[in-house]
Amino acid sequence: MLSYRHAYHAGNSADVLKHFVIERILDYLVKKPKPCLYVDTHAGAGRYALGAAIANKTAEYQSGIAQLLRADSPPEVMQQYLQVVKACTAQTGEWVYPGSPWVAAHCLRANDRLALCELHPQDAPLLIENFKRDRRVKVYCEDGFTKSLALLPPAQRRGLTVIDPSYEIKTDYDNVVEHIKALHKRFATGVYALWYPVVEAARITRLESRFKQAGFQNTQLFELQTYASDKPGMYASGMIVVNAPWTLKADVTLALPWLTQVLGQDSHATYRAVTLCGES
Ligand SMILES: C[S@@+](CC[C@H](N)C(=O)[O-])C[C@H]1O[C@@H](n2cnc3c(N)ncnc32)[C@H](O)[C@@H]1O
Repeated sequence: MLSYRHAYHAGNSADVLKHFVIERILDYLVKKPKPCLYVDTHAGAGRYALGAAIANKTAEYQSGIAQLLRADSPPEVMQQYLQVVKACTAQTGEWVYPGSPWVAAHCLRANDRLALCELHPQDAPLLIENFKRDRRVKVYCEDGFTKSLALLPPAQRRGLTVIDPSYEIKTDYDNVVEHIKALHKRFATGVYALWYPVVEAARITRLESRFKQAGFQNTQLFELQTYASDKPGMYASGMIVVNAPWTLKADVTLALPWLTQVLGQDSHATYRAVTLCGES
């Protein structure tokens, strides 16, 4: 079943929004001295060489991170994310884009911990190799849904769980909400960030209503559309964050107009920032 490989898509516009949001959440979490746990249920390989043949098959990064690095006047709020991207290339000496584990490892501190789950027989060994010298990191070659339930609540009682499946199965859209409900039941104060692709708008309308019905607090949705919805493919993608830091909506909203301008491919490019569940 595991046919998806993130290396084909690394650095595309969806990655840019996802990793920027993750960076902003972690920037908030590390402001307090208490350590935290980062859980990545679907970690991928950790980082991706953009010069590699696999990344250049469709060269999606060309309409993603490559555009961003060329663009003028990024908003202040995006500077740290861009620094993380540049640090990844600087560390390896070739053009490399950081995956979510690398972004998290860069943002977190010596006393924080990372639990990375990856099942793919080719990507799991790459993930292990990429983090073998980082003593904060534990890689689990296990199902990320099952493992994240076992990992929560963390001893630290603070943390972010990123849920980033490939949506190869349509039921994933329903399953992710049920999964976050189960995680939230175990650890009600944790931050949960879900990535989703938009290929068919009706699926996202349903996803949003399921979140609204779930009874979470402070749940924010951020979505970036890069081209018209009647063209084939993933025309938009988004992040839904449960227990979002209070700074997150303002931060992401500052960046979304610029991201839309830089990453938009036609006049239908647009964005959304919506509060799905408010503070109760
Ligand atoms: C969208 S990619 C992850 C990208 C990564 N989070 C990032 O932003 O850099 C999804 C990954 O999940 C892996 N995967 C699929 N099903 C899984 C499962 N049940 N448990 C853990 N990993 C899984 C796939 O092999 C793939 O590498």
